[in-house]
Amino acid sequence: MLNKINELLNKVKECVEKASSSTDVNDLRVRFLGKSGEYTGLLRGLKDVPPAERGTIGKLINDGKIRLENMLAEKEAAFRAKEEERKLKAEKIDVTLSKGYKIGSTHPITKVKNEILDTFIGLGFAVKEGPEIETDYYNFQTLGIPADHPARDMQDTFYISENILLRTHTSPMQSRTMLSQKPPIRIVVPGKVYRADDDATHSPIFNLIEGLCVEEGISLAHLKNMLEIFAKSTFNQDTKVRFRPSYFPFTEPSVEVDISCSMCGGKGCRLCKGTGWIEILGAGIVNPVVLENCGIDSKKYSGFAFGFGIDRIAMLKYGIPDIRLMYENDVNFLKQYK
Ligand code: DAH
Repeated sequence: MLNKINELLNKVKECVEKASSSTDVNDLRVRFLGKSGEYTGLLRGLKDVPPAERGTIGKLINDGKIRLENMLAEKEAAFRAKEEERKLKAEKIDVTLSKGYKIGSTHPITKVKNEILDTFIGLGFAVKEGPEIETDYYNFQTLGIPADHPARDMQDTFYISENILLRTHTSPMQSRTMLSQKPPIRIVVPGKVYRADDDATHSPIFNLIEGLCVEEGISLAHLKNMLEIFAKSTFNQDTKVRFRPSYFPFTEPSVEVDISCSMCGGKGCRLCKGTGWIEILGAGIVNPVVLENCGIDSKKYSGFAFGFGIDRIAMLKYGIPDIRLMYENDVNFLKQYK
C-alpha cells in the first residue's frame, strides 16, 4: 500500500510538471482526485488493509492527498497569473485613442433653429427664452384670450392645474418681455411647446419661434420685408412671401404667411398640392389690447409679431415626411443630417 501511495504521488508530480495550462491542471485534479479518480481509489482499497494498520495507512493516504492538492493548487495559481497577464495585454484598451468612436451631431431641429436665430440676430433681434410651465395668465389672458374665449380651442392645452399649464406657444414671452422692458423691443423666442395633438404633422411636443418687434411707426410693411429676408435666407434667394388675411386674438390685423414652394419654386407639385405656395407661419400687428395689457402706450407704439414651427421648417428644408421621426431619435435617421 505504501508503495502504491508513493508511486501515485510521483506519477502526479510528473504529470503536473508536464501540464501546460490551468485547464490541464484541472483535468489532472479530476483524473486523480475526482470521485472515481486514481488516488481516490486508494481510500476505497483501505477496506482490504488489516484493521491494525488501517489508521496509519489511512493517515498516510490523507497526508498524500493534501500534498497532492497543494501541488495542483500551486501549479494552477502560477498558470492563472500568467494567463491573466496575457489576457490583460491582449485586451488592452487605449482610452486616449478616439479612432473608431462614433461622434454625435447636431439634431436637425437644433441646426435649423440656430440658422434661423442667426438671421434674426443679424436683423437686430435679441434671443430670449422662457418657462415651459406657464400660467393661464401669460399663456392666454395677457394675449387677449380670456377664459371661455373660443380661440382656446385652437390650442388643445395640457393643464397641470386650473391655472398652470404647459405653454401652448412661445407667445407668453411677448407679455413677459413687454411687462419688464420698454420699447424699442426686438426679440425672438425659440422653445418647446405642448399641445394634445399627435399625427404625421403634429407632435404633442414641438418647437416654435416667436418674434416681436415694438417700436414707433411699425406697420405690416416692416413685417413683410423682414419675413422676406428670413424666408430667403432659410430657403433660397428666389423664395417669395405672400400674406393672406387670418385671425389671431393677439394681432389685429392678422395674417397667414405663405412662401413659394421650396420644392417646385412655385410651379405646383406634390408638396404644395399644386398651389405653388406653402403656409409657414402666423403673424400680424400686435393687438393694441395686448400692448395696453402690458403697460405700453398703444397710441405711441405699434408692433408686429409672428410665430412659426421650427419642426415644420426643418421638414420642408430636408424633405422629412413625418414629424415624429424627429422625436424618435433613431441614430440611422439622425446621422443623415451630419
Ligand atoms: N401663437 C401662434 C401659434 O401658436 C403663432 C403666432 C401667430 C404667433 C401669430 C404670433 C402671431 O405672435 O402674431 O401658432
